Amino acid sequence: MANAVAEGAKSVVTSDVELNYHVEADELVNFDAIILGAPTYHHDMPIDMKKLFETSATNGVNLKGKVGATFGSFGWSGEAPKLLLEIMKNKFEMKVITPPLLAKYVPDKIALDNCQGLGRTVAETLIP
Ligand SMILES: Cc1cc2nc3c(=O)[nH]c(=O)nc-3n(C[C@H](O)[C@H](O)[C@H](O)COP(=O)(O)O)c2cc1C
Repeated sequence: MANAVAEGAKSVVTSDVELNYHVEADELVNFDAIILGAPTYHHDMPIDMKKLFETSATNGVNLKGKVGATFGSFGWSGEAPKLLLEIMKNKFEMKVITPPLLAKYVPDKIALDNCQGLGRTVAETLIP
């Protein structure tokens, strides 16, 4: 899903896309847009995601006005992308793209096309 999102973002010629498995809280300020992918486990986001935002808050990382979007694979409830997007909006005052993008278990062609679409939408949002 992350690869498809990145492909979509790269299809917008003005974009400069970085695909990371891991990012430190203090690095988030380097990006105009942040697209987070997370599976749902036990009705929650992975602990690393929670730590990322906890550390961002503790360190006073300013994400206000940056564009945010989320996606994730899930099995039956799919809370993680929704929770992440709410934190981006309510705590960090980011401009979020709704709704979060969900794919049931392994993403099919339609889900991957939607991932590309999400990446493209985010990149286009940044065009002045
Ligand atoms: C231990 C465990 C707990 C899970 N809990 C949830 C859950 O609460 N809600 C949900 O929608 N899916 C749940 N799932 C399903 C996963 O979100 C789903 O398998 C997803 O595709 C995993 O993505 P990943 O392979 O990228 O980690 C759970 C799966 C496991 C193994």
